[in-house]
This record gives sequence, C-alpha cells and structure tokens, in this order.
Amino acid sequence: SVPGDLIVVSNRQPYSHEYDEDGNVVVDEPAGGLTAGLDPVMQRVHGTWIAWGDGEADREVTGEDDVVRMPPEEEAYDLKRIWLSDDEVEAYYYGYSNRVLWPLSHGGIWKTEYANRHWRRYQQVNGRFADAVVDAIGEDSVVWFQDYHFALAPRMVREDAPDALLTHFWHITWPGWDTFRACPQAEDLLDGLLANDVLGFHVERYCQNFLDCVDQAFEDAFVDYDDNRVQYEGHTTYVQAFPLGVDADGIAESASSADEESWRAFKQDRGIPEDSKVALGVDRLDYTKGIVERLKALEQFWKGRPERQGELTYVQKADESRSLIPEYQNLQTNVREAVERINERFGTDEWTPVIYIDDWLESDELNALYRYSDVMLVSALRDGMNLVAKEYVASQVDDDGVLILSDQTGAYEQLGEHSLVVNPHDTEGFARTIEEAMTMDAEERRERMSALRENVHEEDLNAWMADVFAAAEEAGEERDDAD
Ligand code: G6P
Repeated sequence: SVPGDLIVVSNRQPYSHEYDEDGNVVVDEPAGGLTAGLDPVMQRVHGTWIAWGDGEADREVTGEDDVVRMPPEEEAYDLKRIWLSDDEVEAYYYGYSNRVLWPLSHGGIWKTEYANRHWRRYQQVNGRFADAVVDAIGEDSVVWFQDYHFALAPRMVREDAPDALLTHFWHITWPGWDTFRACPQAEDLLDGLLANDVLGFHVERYCQNFLDCVDQAFEDAFVDYDDNRVQYEGHTTYVQAFPLGVDADGIAESASSADEESWRAFKQDRGIPEDSKVALGVDRLDYTKGIVERLKALEQFWKGRPERQGELTYVQKADESRSLIPEYQNLQTNVREAVERINERFGTDEWTPVIYIDDWLESDELNALYRYSDVMLVSALRDGMNLVAKEYVASQVDDDGVLILSDQTGAYEQLGEHSLVVNPHDTEGFARTIEEAMTMDAEERRERMSALRENVHEEDLNAWMADVFAAAEEAGEERDDAD
C-alpha cells in the first residue's frame, strides 16, 4: 500500500497531446522505460504526477490549474503539467540533464559538456518543480522524484517542507567516485539527493558507488555501507536497491493475443523470407544502447558464416531520441550507415539482412515481434536496468526464444544466469553467441526461458512498487520514532 498521497515528479510525462495531420488532437505515449513503468503504478495508486508538458496540444486540453486527468480513458490520476520555455528546455533538458548528467552517470566523462548557463537553468527548473511539489504537498503526502533531472529538487522541497517524506528513484547507473568527481557540481548534486529519506537505484552496485561518492565528497557525512545509510546534516537517507520490473502479466496477455498468422503477415509485409529466423532489437536511439556494436557483431556473424545469410534476419525497431544533441545525431548517422553497409554487403534480391523500422508499429505487430522473434539482442554498453529485455521475456509465452544480454546492464544481475551473456565490445564473442542462439535446441531454450519468465513474473512491477513503498513507510516510521 502507499503510505499516503503520492506525488510523482518526473521530467517526461506519461502521455502528451499532439495534433495529427488534420489538426485533430491525439494522445501520444513517449518511448522509454521510466514512463512505461510508472504509469501502471499511478493507475493503481492514483495521486498526482508532475511533469513537463511538452506536447504541442497539451495546453489546449489541460485545465486552468494545469491539471489533466490521465490516462485518457481511465482518468485514474492527476497529471500536473509544468510549462517550460524554449530556453529552459534547451539548457535544463538538452543541456545539463542530457549533456552532463546522462553521460556522466553512464561513465562517459569524455561526452560531458559543461556550460554555466545550463547549470543555472538546471537549478532554476529544479526550483520550479520543487515549488509545484510544495504547492501539492499535504500532511500525508509521499513525494517520489524520478531520475537525474531532479537531483536538486529534494533539498529545495526539504527547505520549505522540513517534515515531508521524500523518496527518489535514480533510473540510470551511478558511477564510481573516480568518474563522478570529474563533475564541477558533484557536491551540489550529492547534497540535493541527500535531502531524501529514501534514495533508490536498480542494483546494489550503484548504491555502493553512491555511498562511496558521499563518503569521499563530504568529510562530515557518516556512511554506513552495511546498512546502506547516510547521516548528513542531521538527516538520514536510506540508499537501497529496487530492481524495476515490468507488468509481466499484462505483457504476457498482450503477447498471447498475437497469432502465427499475424506474424507470417508481418514477415511478408517486411520482405522477411518465411523460413528465416528473426533476431530483434528494440531501442531508443541512444549511444548507451550499443546498437552500432550489435550491428558490427551481426556483420561478423554473417561474414564468418555465409551459410547463415538468409537464415537469420535482424529487425531493428528504433525510436528517435534527444535529436538536438550532436552526439545523438552522430549516432543516428552511424546506425544508418552501418545498416546500409550491411544490407549492401550481404543483401540479395530475396533477402535483406537488416530491417530497420523507425516509424510507428501497430500494437499487434509489436506483440507478434516480441512473441515470435527467435532471439532478442540487448547489447547496451551501460544501462541502469533495460526493460526491453524483461518485456521480451514476459512475451515469451511459448518459452521458445533466446535472450542475448549484455553484462553491462542492470538486468544482467537478475537475468544473466539464464540468458546468453555477451560483452558488447567483444565482436567475435558476440557473433559466436548469436550462432549459439541459432543452434540451441528446443529443450534448452525452454529451460532457460521458463527460468527467466519465472524471475520476471516474480520480480514484476507490483513487487517493485511494494518494496519502494515499504521502504518509504519504514523510513517515515523511523523518523517519527526519532522525533
Ligand atoms: C531513460 C531515462 C528516463 C527518460 C527516458 C527517455 O529511460 O532514465 O528518465 O525519460 O530515458 O528519454 P527522454 O529524454 O526522451 O525522456
């Protein structure tokens, strides 16, 4: 149960309103694990979700208090939209959030770009969201900040509402101190996060990295590595691992609605030979996802095994993301070039090795892809969790597919034992693993997949939610006892 009225704060909103070609208002859902994971939570517990209203038609459908009931058909919770100016978007979202904190958290200090203006806007926008939280807060409220866009907001809320119960979930990796100390604002960020009562990460290693950063940055912080606690400026923050899960039952049900006929039709529409196996990749076009590395491995696979040409087709579903940032534009170019190179090199009149899909897919097509693809390739170079891996597993209602999973993902901690594990930088090894997946017998596939499915169902979204709320409740009780 939720220990009070829930206020969720995230940068990305779960639904946006846009105009279609005829000027009608339509509802759109963004790509990305965070909103996909939290929307079902909010549908169950209700409450208020505060997020950036970035849709073209958002203002038209939003009430005077900037609130709209969501999701559209069910109206289970309030979505409070915050309007950001172009300059705020450019400096807070594209700038500090995605050119500093995103690469830094994933260990890519060479990709970070610092600008004072971006940092100032990051502070100011954190202040605007903090004000919205303070306005919404009641006696029983539990505030739940999401991710790296709001490292400073908890401290700001704490100043205005000293007794508020504040929790935060950091959806991406947390780097070691040796990486994090490169950030000129390292201490401000840590200070902001330590205003929370509970701070969650996907896996224990990120928690330990965070604790170590605090230990190194603040002499006067007391860090308890065994109990995962920090005492800092008279306040205790519990730092805990909560591996995010998926709505496994719901996904299994959707997958079950796909049938072999729609799969055959899909293959035919996309020019995939009927008897070709299919490997699948589904990603936001982000440099952390290892898409280019995956394509290199596939190229190696087909090059070293000419007999496999035509026997395995790779389908890449790609969602454009953060395209105003040069690093993302470069990635898009590199992916396109790799796809073209491979298709030119091995393609024939009858067979295209890589089918690249960057437009919208009907849900029955997507369900069929997840259920019937023979292999799923998850090759992130660094990834907090990677929910695509879990979605694939939950869709494998026939226990027939093979998950190839990068050891650089949070999901590896839970799913590594029963998937085929790759280091995405090891092109040769990766290609051999694809071959292993191609030749694995049905019994081994079933054994592995049923073990994976068991895990994904046991540690699903409900379990995650229950753990996070139990920790919030406990932190609240400990504090009341201490008072
Ligand atoms: C990751 C982040 C989320 C983010 C999502 C999509 O999953 O952890 O916070 O919402 O990517 O990225 P975007 O920038 O489009 O919101």
